[in-house]
Amino acid sequence: MEKIYLLGFMGAGKSSVGRSLSKLLSYKHIDMDELIEQREGRTIKDIFEQSGEEYFREKERELLKELSLLKKVIISTGGGVPCFFDNLELMKKTGFVVYLKNEPSTILKRLNASEISRRPLLKDKKYNQIEEILKKRAPFYEKADLILKSDDKKIDDISREIIKEYVKWKKRS
Ligand code: S3P
Repeated sequence: MEKIYLLGFMGAGKSSVGRSLSKLLSYKHIDMDELIEQREGRTIKDIFEQSGEEYFREKERELLKELSLLKKVIISTGGGVPCFFDNLELMKKTGFVVYLKNEPSTILKRLNASEISRRPLLKDKKYNQIEEILKKRAPFYEKADLILKSDDKKIDDISREIIKEYVKWKKRS
């Protein structure tokens, strides 16, 4: 199972860490949000507005099933992926699952206006809103194989830590 799934809230750094891991391990990097937008030919904001969240979650599910069959890939998931259907079980069965854990204040700092088009759930970028969703999602995120507090860490350092644990995990599984 040569695969790493990156989980975490919006703005956790899943895409940046994914790109860095991909270089270090020579694995392909797949960003689920990006791929869904490409295939649908519209932004996530438009998908939510025109077809609804349920439709988007179905698309995530379909894509995850497809990606779970690949080898030598780093998959940056959308923040909601582990919290719907049996997505989390599927990821744990087919790869090394890493949760990039951040404080709500860090998340708030990282989300800038340009990223909101991909994050309709955070239209108002309110601290309380982030805290509330995070509380509901924590029980899912925290089932990851590795929980990495990444608030003040550099992308390179996060990646190296993940690789160290990934190598150990691969030997065990
Ligand atoms: C979502 C997170 C977004 C995107 C969509 C829904 C969520 O992805 O999939 O807006 O439910 O947390 P990022 O985590 O990459 O921002």
